[in-house]
Amino acid sequence: MDFEALGSLPLGALRYMPRVGSTNDELLQWAEQGAPDLAVVAADEQTAGRGRAGRRWFTPPGAALAVSVLLRAEAFPRRPQGDALLRLSGLGAVSVCLALRQAYGLPAQVKWPNDVLLDGRKAAGVLVELSWRGDGWQYAVIGMGVNVRPEAVPPPQKVRFPAVAVESVAGKPLRRTKLLYEILSRLVAWRARLHTSAFLRTWEENLAWLGEQVRVQPENGAAEIQGTLLGLAADGALRLQTPAEGALTLRLGEVRLRPAGEPMHRTQFRTGG
Ligand code: BTN
Repeated sequence: MDFEALGSLPLGALRYMPRVGSTNDELLQWAEQGAPDLAVVAADEQTAGRGRAGRRWFTPPGAALAVSVLLRAEAFPRRPQGDALLRLSGLGAVSVCLALRQAYGLPAQVKWPNDVLLDGRKAAGVLVELSWRGDGWQYAVIGMGVNVRPEAVPPPQKVRFPAVAVESVAGKPLRRTKLLYEILSRLVAWRARLHTSAFLRTWEENLAWLGEQVRVQPENGAAEIQGTLLGLAADGALRLQTPAEGALTLRLGEVRLRPAGEPMHRTQFRTGG
């Protein structure tokens, strides 16, 4: 890959690996050894890519973007409080979503909290991991995986939410280094404004199914809830208006979100969502 374009970004350091287990694992290890704020690990292929909730993430060679970024807590103008994981997950998703929208004119949307959809199918996923010391988090690793070429999309029986490649929707080939630049430049810019209402508004404006009927499946196996997706609460939690229980606020890790009228798949899966 040609990383020259990244030279204009204020990155702390950059490691490119043709093949790695997981860029998140690599960066978590590097962070422990003192990697600077905005250190980046990118790989062409991941042999043990990780998704949320312990799932696997498929990254065959030459087809995807797999990148992890280190954000040290002390480098934030204001350290995200409350559910930092939620807001940082939003940061990753918003950065990918806006890169696809603004630099490529694609109809990307965020499936709360942190998947990126194109035409209602998953094109990218975000995995945020925090390192805690005492009662505060010290650093975050934001891992982003984008299905760039069709070969990066796992077979339908391996996913529990339909997936798509960015190039299939764009109808033309993409340079992965340019996409990386577009994502990282937005991540750097929005990180500085993560505490602002502008960030929350941008995240909300780009939500899939905003104002529409959705179904949520609580992860604890409780009954499915249906309602209208109202938007985000101040901490980035999801607001839903339900006929039975009125307004509900749903937090990270509690739910799986689907548009109304589409079956919940309960098959074997590789990618998240
Ligand atoms: C999900 O949707 O479940 C999150 C997927 C996150 C995948 C990315 S690829 C780069 C980074 N390294 C990993 O092992 N995972 C994340």
